[in-house]
Amino acid sequence: MIVVTGATGNIGRRLVDRLVEEGVPVRALTRDPARAGLPAQVEVVRADLTEDTDPAPLLAGADALFLNLAAGGGDSVERLIDAAVKAGVSRIVLNSSLAVTGTPADETNFIARSHALLERAVRDSGLEWTFLRGGNYATNALNWAPAIRESGVVRDPHPGARSVPVHEADLADVAALALLDRTGAHAGQVHRLTGPEVLTNAQQVAAIGEAVGRPTRIEQISEDEAAEAMAGPHFPLAAARQLVRLFGQSVDAPAFARTDTVERVTGHPARTFAQWAREHAGDFS
Ligand SMILES: NC(=O)c1ccc[n+]([C@@H]2O[C@H](COP(=O)([O-])OP(=O)(O)OC[C@H]3O[C@@H](n4cnc5c(N)ncnc54)[C@H](OP(=O)(O)O)[C@@H]3O)[C@@H](O)[C@H]2O)c1
Repeated sequence: MIVVTGATGNIGRRLVDRLVEEGVPVRALTRDPARAGLPAQVEVVRADLTEDTDPAPLLAGADALFLNLAAGGGDSVERLIDAAVKAGVSRIVLNSSLAVTGTPADETNFIARSHALLERAVRDSGLEWTFLRGGNYATNALNWAPAIRESGVVRDPHPGARSVPVHEADLADVAALALLDRTGAHAGQVHRLTGPEVLTNAQQVAAIGEAVGRPTRIEQISEDEAAEAMAGPHFPLAAARQLVRLFGQSVDAPAFARTDTVERVTGHPARTFAQWAREHAGDFS
């Protein structure tokens, strides 16, 4: 049986479907089973991973665990990993990030540091592990959905910022193979996952326009304006400014180079952003 954290999320939902197709028993964790809308075959269990409760029952009888930082970080993840060890779980597949380099540079940025800490905790558990280090997710484009629905105009400081957006279904396909690991090929592997093509923000916005059949465009705003829009009670302005500047650096070179890992591991080509946009047209209409 496989336990999936973040089971109602972008990757989680696709992953649960893949595992059900494989005929594998799945325990899906969510804070709200009534709203989860997961397949009937799945055991849906309530879990808020930020609560200070004993996670042992969540792992009872499990063979493998899919761990997504989006479902809670810090102490809660460490408790979950400990519980996995005690429950006799064989392997953990960790949804990490391409920001992790495995060098001291990981200490210098928040995204790398939080994922690197988790990688260390999983390695230290002594269980078999696989790390999925994904680059920029195609789903980040959903942040543009309100603007595209309202006016078709996305206000962004870096229309030329470049990335290699990866489809959540490809992340889920690789996760499913690593969780099942029928060939033993995934233990101790770091999978660096990107989409198939480098695209600017402007090209992504145009692809969404094509998918929804309406004109879309980017209107360039200043970095300060973007940082102020991004900052909030849990995200200080200084951090927002740092992040916006970081995105700006990808105008000259994408933060992460394209990899062929999706195709190598799954045997099918990585899904394109155009396909992603067509599948998500409803989110932008
Ligand atoms: N975005 C990127 O470009 C990028 C790049 C590299 C790595 N990543 C990694 O990928 C993660 C995002 O993955 P994703 O897009 O699949 O996630 P997501 O769609 O944001 O889903 C996360 C799920 O976690 C659950 N959750 C949230 N808080 C929880 C809590 N306290 N306890 C239990 N469950 C909780 C939610 O389900 P319920 O509401 O049902 O509880 C939600 O559906 C990021 O956090 C990061 O670690 C992202």
